Amino acid sequence: VSLKSYNTFGINANARYWVDVSHEEDLKTLLQLTEFIDTPKLILGGGSNVLLCHDFDGLVVKISIQGIDVIREDENHIYVRAGAGVNWHEFVMFCVTHSYAGLENLSLIPGTVGAAPMQNIGAYGVELEQVFESLTAVHIPTGEQKTFTHSDCAFGYRESAFKRELKGQYIITSVTFQLDKHPTFHTRYGAIQETLAEMGVTDENLSISAISQAVIRIRRSKLPDPAQIGNAGSFFKNPEIAKTQFDELKAEYPSLPGYPIGEDKVKVPAGWLIEQAGWKGYRSGDAGVHTKQALVLVNYGSATGPDILALAKRVQESVLDKFGVIITPEVNVI
Ligand code: EPU
Repeated sequence: VSLKSYNTFGINANARYWVDVSHEEDLKTLLQLTEFIDTPKLILGGGSNVLLCHDFDGLVVKISIQGIDVIREDENHIYVRAGAGVNWHEFVMFCVTHSYAGLENLSLIPGTVGAAPMQNIGAYGVELEQVFESLTAVHIPTGEQKTFTHSDCAFGYRESAFKRELKGQYIITSVTFQLDKHPTFHTRYGAIQETLAEMGVTDENLSISAISQAVIRIRRSKLPDPAQIGNAGSFFKNPEIAKTQFDELKAEYPSLPGYPIGEDKVKVPAGWLIEQAGWKGYRSGDAGVHTKQALVLVNYGSATGPDILALAKRVQESVLDKFGVIITPEVNVI
């Protein structure tokens, strides 16, 4: 089975076996089938955070579990559960339309609800963990269901327990969000303020819908649409470096942006480092660095996983060479 249309990078790799699962019960049954018990498994949601570097000699499980339900509410919050296979942006739009606040800054992120907690997706000043209540997952070796609370997930910047100690052990089947009836607007991000101003939005008519529209505009202007150019969003994470190193770099490169993390660390944008190292808009064959956002690697058509990975390595090495900073992939390299 070709996986080309199941990964947003548009990489043409094959899977030995393939199954699309729409119900949690079917997933439990599948995991208990003796013929697949020892078969390696790759779980795919929207395929928007993977780079496939070879054919997969195992079972690819695409999670298509649907459903959006309001499960309870109190004075300030509304709790909404969504199936892991629900398209992320459609879920965000559902919440914005119903005035359930909290997800609007995360508009237009590719992928599915079930994949969102894996890497604690974030954008424009909000991370998933701020609105996360709990999730359900099925244990791959036993087929048993388990509920994970916020602390069980051990969220970090583009990190969770599911990417680390629990890697490959669970399949997320649903996620419950704690959304606000009375919105708190997250407009600190410079690009959001500028775009809202362009849209004629003021403090008086600010709304979650306006923020969602602003985020959609910003993303469309900077990030390539996977339907047109293959990509998986940011390829690297923004590195955190020691404040001492930041101060030295800043003396040499006064325009270097940085966001303090506690007392002695600073997060720097990898996109800036990559652009300064001369890679923005670079292209070799069909593998390239996006013209408008250097943090995004792109497939112009027939690049292979190894082509993209080779480019990523060259970018990493040149950033290390020029700035002495290690950048690591955010994308899951298979
Ligand atoms: N920058 C450059 N050149 C570039 C790209 C960025 O100089 O080519 C500079 C910008 O000028 C700006 C800074 O880097 O000062 C930050 O850029 P931007 O706002 O575009 O965000 P980012 O740090 O590159 C992160 C997330 C994105 C998220 C945006 C907005 C990570 C790895 N990426 O990107 O998430 O949408 O912030 O919040 O943290 C993703 O994870 O796939 C993703 C797209």
